[in-house]
Amino acid sequence: MKHLIYRSESEMARISLADILLTSRVNNNKFGITGFLVAHSRGFIQLIEGEETAVNQLYQNISQDLRHANVAIITTGHSKQRYFPNWDMGYAYISSQHQLMQINAISDANNASVIKTFTQLVTSEVTPLTRHG
Ligand SMILES: Cc1cc2nc3c(=O)[nH]c(=O)nc-3n(C[C@H](O)[C@H](O)[C@H](O)COP(=O)(O)O)c2cc1C
Repeated sequence: MKHLIYRSESEMARISLADILLTSRVNNNKFGITGFLVAHSRGFIQLIEGEETAVNQLYQNISQDLRHANVAIITTGHSKQRYFPNWDMGYAYISSQHQLMQINAISDANNASVIKTFTQLVTSEVTPLTRHG
């Protein structure tokens, strides 16, 4: 199972989250992708996970999506199990100072604890919009 975390500096105001979550739910279910999308005041951080080719293809789509800006991979890796097995694409908007510090840590980090910080961040603030049927 491959996972990939990327960041994007796209402006929330110019994006219809409803559209994105709808597309994500349909596509991700079809291609066996799960994950979590975190929105904050300066952009997004998203974890996507699934079969290697599916993850690579989705990241390809995402990085060419004009709604994104300055898309960059933070980390990728492989694991036996999914981090978000029950989510086609979970979603949370985070805004507290503490959480923004975690976002900065995730964006800057170049080490193994990125995944841990990410999962801690989203399990503290979860809006269940797109739960797996
Ligand atoms: C912040 C953000 C997150 C996205 N996440 C996903 C996703 O998890 N899955 C997905 O299929 N598309 C996602 N997209 C949309 C893709 O960039 C792309 O538009 C889509 O995969 C194309 O699907 P289509 O060919 O079915 O129209 C996201 C877009 C944005 C701006």
